[in-house]
This record gives sequence, C-alpha cells and structure tokens, in this order.
Amino acid sequence: MAEYSRITDQLDDPAAAREDGRRKIDWARQHMPILAELREDFEANQPLAGQRIGMAMHVEAKTAALVELLADGGAEVAITGCNPLSTHDDVSAALDAHDSITSYAKRGVDDEEYYAAIESVIAHEPTITVDDGMDMVAAIHEDYPELIDTILGGCEETTTGVHRLRAMDDDGALEYPVFAVNDTPMKRLFDNVHGTGESSLSTIAQTTNLSWAGKTVVVAGYGYCGKGVAKKASGQNAHVVVTEVDPRRALEAHMEGYEVMPMNEAAAEADVVLTTTGNRDVVTREDFEVLPDGVLLANAGHFDIEIDLDALSDLAVSEREVRDGVREYEMDDGRRLNVLAEGRLVNLAAPMAFGHPVEVMDQSFGVQAACVRELVENGDAYDAGVHEVPDELDREIAEIKLAAEDVEIDDLTEAQREYMDSWEHGT
Ligand code: NAI
Repeated sequence: MAEYSRITDQLDDPAAAREDGRRKIDWARQHMPILAELREDFEANQPLAGQRIGMAMHVEAKTAALVELLADGGAEVAITGCNPLSTHDDVSAALDAHDSITSYAKRGVDDEEYYAAIESVIAHEPTITVDDGMDMVAAIHEDYPELIDTILGGCEETTTGVHRLRAMDDDGALEYPVFAVNDTPMKRLFDNVHGTGESSLSTIAQTTNLSWAGKTVVVAGYGYCGKGVAKKASGQNAHVVVTEVDPRRALEAHMEGYEVMPMNEAAAEADVVLTTTGNRDVVTREDFEVLPDGVLLANAGHFDIEIDLDALSDLAVSEREVRDGVREYEMDDGRRLNVLAEGRLVNLAAPMAFGHPVEVMDQSFGVQAACVRELVENGDAYDAGVHEVPDELDREIAEIKLAAEDVEIDDLTEAQREYMDSWEHGT
C-alpha cells in the first residue's frame, strides 16, 4: 500500500493549526444540537466500541464534529478528503490530535496524493466506510477486496455517490451494504436544497464581491440542489433561468415562474452560470462561444466535469488568476469568462468556502451517525447493495431537531392511525 503521511507530519506549525481548527470545530459543535444529543448516548454507551471507521469526506468543521462523535462513541476513525480543494488543514490537524482519530486530509493535493491518502485510510482496515462521492468504496472493491469480508457496511453522503453505488449494485459489483444517506428526507430536503442554495450563493458573492441583484443567473439542473439555488438566487433579486434535460423537472421550474431554455440560448444572456446536475459536459465549447464578457461560471455538482475546462483552455488566448479563486479565460474577441474554484464544487472548494450552514449539516450528519450505529447493531440484517435509510432513524433525527427548536407537533390518534391503514372505508 502507498505511504501517505498524516496531516500533523505535513504541516510546518501543527500546534498553531490545531488551535485554529479547534476553534472552528467548537463553534460548529455549539450549533449542532442533534450531534450533541447523540453524543450523550454515544459517550455513555460506546455503541461503536471496537469498530474502525474509514472516511473520505469534505474535511471541515462540521464534518469534524461528526468524526469526533464517532470516535467518542468508541470507534477508531481514519479520515481523508473527498475533494482536493475542500479540506481545511487546521481542522484536519485538530482532528489528528484526537487519540482515536488519524487524519490524512490536506488541501491542494494532486491526483496521486489524493488517492494515496485514501489508501492510507484503507490501511487501517475499516469495518465501516463513510463516503462522500464513493471513492473509498471504489478503492476497496478495486484494490483491496480481501477487506470486504470484515466490512459491516457503509454510508454514502451525496447524490453522485449514490448514483455510482446504484450503478455498481445494478452490475452486481457492490459487495457490502451501503446506506443511501443522501436520499433520506432529513438530508436531501435540507442539505441539497437549502444548504447548496445558501452556501453556493454566499461563496460566489464573497469570492467575487459582486451582487446578485439584477443579474441573470442560469441554473443548470432543477433537481434538489438546483431548486435551492434557483429559489435563493431569486430571493436575492436575480433573474433566474433554468436548463434541464428531464421534462418533468423542466415543467416544475416553468410552473415556479422561472424561464426555462436550452443551455446555449441561456448562455448568451448569462451573468452567472451555476451547474448543479451531477452530469458531465453541461457548459461546453458552443456555450463559451456565446457567453457574455465578464460572466461567472461556477459548479456545485460533486465532480469538476460539468464545465468543460479543457475546451475553455483550448479556446482561450490567455488565462490568469484575477482574484483568489477566480480564473479569467480571455477569448480571441476580447470576452473574459471567469471560472470559480477551478470548476470544483464552489461552496466547498473556493478559497473562502465554508460549505453548508452548520445547522443543515447537523441534520445530515445526525443521519450519518444513526446509520453507522445501525450498521453496528443490525448490520447482519442488510445484504450487499444500496439500502434506503430506515424510516425510524430519519424520524429519530427529525424529532431531536424539532425538540431542539422547541417546535411541537400533533400525534396521530388511534382512530386516525386505523383510518390511514385501512382500505375498507369510503364515503
Ligand atoms: P438531482 O438528481 O436531484 O438533480 C440533478 C438534475 O440535473 C436532474 O433534474 C437532472 O435531470 C438534471 N440534469 C442532468 N443532466 C443535465 C444536463 N446536461 N443539463 C441540465 N440538467 C441536467 O441531484 P441533486 O441532489 O440536485 O445533486 C446534484 C449534484 O450536486 C450531485 O453531483 C450531488 O452529488 C451534488 N451535491 C452537491 C452539494 C454541494 O454541497 N455542492 C450538496 C449536495 C449534492
């Protein structure tokens, strides 16, 4: 296996980094009531004792709160990043200081280092994997299949990872159970919609110091993330145009009052293009030819394949960094097209990015922690393949959150429950 050092051994001043990281994590933890409640149980009952958890996630403060929860629940945790640009080195260093956590995550790694760090996590021989994008599951199946027998299961955080896992499952190639954490209501309806909406827009605004008001914002993809982005952009007084390939999603956008049109038409009017499709080649050469001078191009999908940067580089007569996190490509007719965060998911990979708001990640990571606990307690009940998160776990997390927000709701009466379960009633 490749040797890749833990973060502490890679930094010039790990002690200072640890201190900065610690402050960021403590702030996040203060605003994560779901993880706080789970922590009481995990610390007291040690449900994860004896487990080794291998993680590949965006290593920043909220993720760190999850990692510490799992470690405080009795697990040994090894973690690395799931994107070369989304790691906060100080947070990674603070995690690495915990007795039960080893962190290999470092910002700005190249491809070789990125995969070497994943291998270093795998060298801990995880019994549970927690992924954001499925790179860990893929590496284990491809290169270390001998570990699969001792793996109880895994959890997957994002849409693209779940897509990949389902494709693998359809091919009969997925050899252990994995929970589709992304697909559960407590994750997808909040994280993908509100989280991506809020954090993508705020990161773009901070990175560029430009306003949304009066801009034409083209949102590619009207799925969960696209809906959030479109709604928040429209709330900031932007004019929103949606592009889609699915007729139902396109119709939904149309009925919400957004303009819907093909990308090449939308591109000609765009001040900002933000891709949220999880698909490749969404903004391509023919779009670069019509995009207006000064346009901002950003991506919020998992991989950096939505904007065809190779074609853009080919077309450009010059390229330069015009601000931190903004690369300008000049066309031969003088137009300047600005790409944010190298086309990687902007809300996590831009130099000033913090990812989703803390409260949102409390929910997503509450579901993650409940799923890890479920694998330890009932892992035998799940066959190899992709599994929905059990509804009672999702409800448990929702109930903790409602209680923390001091929101009360009604209970079904016995008569209502019977009515809802019965087919024998009519008029
Ligand atoms: P989704 O499946 O709900 O939505 C994707 C939409 O894009 C679908 O409606 C699909 O029809 C559309 N689409 C596909 N190809 C297209 C094309 N060529 N042109 C226009 N539209 C196209 O997925 P979701 O949950 O919205 O996730 C999207 C991406 O964002 C995934 O890669 C996911 O992993 C990632 N993600 C990123 C987050 C972040 O923090 N930046 C948070 C959550 C998810």
